[in-house]
Amino acid sequence: MSSSSSKSAGVITCRAAVAWGPGQPLLLEEVEVDPPSAMEIRIKVVCTSLCRSDVTQWQSQAQPDLFPRIFGHEASGIVESVGEGVTEFQAGDHVLTVFIGECQSCKHCESGKSNMCQKLGLERRGVMHSDQKTRFRVKGKPVYHYCAVSSFSEYTVVHSGCAVKISPDVRMERACLLSCGVAAGIGAAWKVADISKGSTVVIFGLGTVGLSVAQAAKSRGASRIIGVDINPEKYEKGKVFGVTEYINPEECKEPVQQVIKQITDGGADYSFECIGDTNIVSTALQSCCDGWGMTVTLGVPKTKTEISTHYAFLLTGRTLKGSLFGGWRPKSDLPSLVEKYSKGEIQLDELVTHDIPFESINEAFNLMKEGSCLRCVIHMPK
Ligand code: APR
Ligand code: ZN
Repeated sequence: MSSSSSKSAGVITCRAAVAWGPGQPLLLEEVEVDPPSAMEIRIKVVCTSLCRSDVTQWQSQAQPDLFPRIFGHEASGIVESVGEGVTEFQAGDHVLTVFIGECQSCKHCESGKSNMCQKLGLERRGVMHSDQKTRFRVKGKPVYHYCAVSSFSEYTVVHSGCAVKISPDVRMERACLLSCGVAAGIGAAWKVADISKGSTVVIFGLGTVGLSVAQAAKSRGASRIIGVDINPEKYEKGKVFGVTEYINPEECKEPVQQVIKQITDGGADYSFECIGDTNIVSTALQSCCDGWGMTVTLGVPKTKTEISTHYAFLLTGRTLKGSLFGGWRPKSDLPSLVEKYSKGEIQLDELVTHDIPFESINEAFNLMKEGSCLRCVIHMPK
């Protein structure tokens, strides 16, 4: 495969998978990518995996004005050039992109206990944080970004606070999974819930995110890891990640929370919502025990955004905790996860069900819509 990219006056012309409207198949278009502005870096994307939230946002009718748009946010790449003021990176560095940045100077970054950076937080308007503009054009029109990453392009521009340097020895075609979903699952278990040895854990949704919670719960010595999923095929894969029992809510005679209460003597120690369905939050809260039971939410809701539950579940001492990116601060915490992958302490390879060339990116979208994949890794032209 040869790349069609060319350089002129700082602008790079290359191919990107452009979505022209909600749910419309991506088209490989020639796009212009601006040089990085101050404190930004331009990256040659090497691999990018498809995450459920790319699909959710692509299908959503909520922001029809933000098209044409380039999705993609779980990615690894090589720095091509750096903008004014960037000292942390240089051309040739291997990096992971991150969808929430760490400026290291705002109130949240300085607190050491939050990853809700006030400067480089979740970007929802399809532009760059700094000047609210885009760095891509197609046929002379601006192309909107996604999460200020937009990795479904041979080249992209990100803020230097939204990338993390990794060793050139790390496998780029797998490490990209740590850019979002896997790190989110592991962080929810280790950092947010802080699962203790011998605990009983219930995981709603055995996709990449739920299975990442499972492997992290297993490594903490959880005694029971109960996986709940409407797709029975997920259980086989679940066993590889430590799931010890499986429940299909569609086959239960009683509500699944009742079944869980019965088999766990009153409820689990921890439950995790890894589906992206706000109705399940209450189910998950009811599935954990009085006194110390904790529910952690990881899913990004597809439709209904409000949650409701009976107040009694809080009165009885349960905790409901939200999380984004597993509570990790990308620059401070991600390097140690990458190192754990290198040492074989985190499983990523087993989560990749498909390797797909960039030209066939729509196949990855179809597989995820059908629920017949975990992670599809999209390989950009060399
Ligand atoms: N009950 C139980 N399981 C369900 C239900 C349900 N009502 N609905 C869907 N599932 C299962 C699916 O069968 C699938 O195995 O939930 C799993 C979700 O996995 P994926 O779609 O592969 O999503 P994943 O990438 O793991 O992300 C999960 O976290 O980051 C967010 O946006 C992401 O909301 C999504 C969630
Ligand atoms: Zn910050």
